[in-house]
Amino acid sequence: MSQQQDCLFLDVDTGIDDAFALLYACAAPQARLVGVSTVVGNVSLAAATRNTRAVLALAGRAEVPVAPGAAVPLGADPNDASAIHGVTGLGHAVLPEPAEPAHAAHAVDAIIAAARAQAGRLVLVATGPLTNVALAVMREPELPRLIKRFVIMGGAYREHGNVTPSAEFNIWHDPEAARIAFRAFGGPGGAPVVAIGLDVTRRTTIDGADLDALAARIGDRPREGALMTFLRDSARFYFERTERQSGQRFLVMHDPLAVAVALDPTLVETRRAAVDVETSGRLTTGATVVDWDGRWGRLPNTDVAVTVDAERFRAAFFAAMVRLAD
Ligand code: BDR
Ligand code: CA
Repeated sequence: MSQQQDCLFLDVDTGIDDAFALLYACAAPQARLVGVSTVVGNVSLAAATRNTRAVLALAGRAEVPVAPGAAVPLGADPNDASAIHGVTGLGHAVLPEPAEPAHAAHAVDAIIAAARAQAGRLVLVATGPLTNVALAVMREPELPRLIKRFVIMGGAYREHGNVTPSAEFNIWHDPEAARIAFRAFGGPGGAPVVAIGLDVTRRTTIDGADLDALAARIGDRPREGALMTFLRDSARFYFERTERQSGQRFLVMHDPLAVAVALDPTLVETRRAAVDVETSGRLTTGATVVDWDGRWGRLPNTDVAVTVDAERFRAAFFAAMVRLAD
């Protein structure tokens, strides 16, 4: 690993866009993926772990340890997202059963160990509910000071939700955990949460024409067949749903954008503010509430992404897929 490279650790609930995020992380030149942990969310913990190991194998990175974490949320009943990601979590894609076993360590221990081992240069990205991260900061309160950057895909800040009118899935799935995580980060010496919410992810989509263009670019490369089959088959399930809903076939790149920003923060503009999570609203449980004007008098704990350079992100994603096909 070169001196300049950051170390990347992903906490995922592998669904379709988590899978794309993992592929991107495996191909990123700026950082080395050192570990992955899994959490219940889009699918069960067991399915998320299996999918993660299978996707890493597809990327040629089967050796990356995958540590299973929370099988249930801290403060809510599990609610999967099989309508969006399919029963397995990977849409219509079928990947071989992964050979590499799941890691023996629990996600919480794996996150803390990676943060200590790579103190000051670990970039932690969460693309699922924040259950594992909340448990990790309760176990190791120094976590926000040990890591270099903490990026989440989660929340809806000036935007409507995607599960309820006000809540985004990852926050809504375990609002108690999200509240603990937001409150633990930021503050003196601690990394703030970099929040990649629906405000920016909804601006980053890909469609069938993008996948055709990618296929043309990666033509005869060694992993072209397996990679394109996976991208097309998983995305097709997502396209079918958006077509039923809106008449248009597209995939929102929620989780890959979070990984991309973790590696290149200049892809988004952010605004620093205090954020908290509604845990017991009559209508708004899981909403991320931002104090844009400092009315609470709290220290800001979050860099909220407010704009995104979508074209530069899309170009970086497709360039990464080309590298991965080699
Ligand atoms: C988030 O919810 C999940 O379904 C996606 O994987 C993404 O992490 C978007 O709200
Ligand atoms: Ca996810």
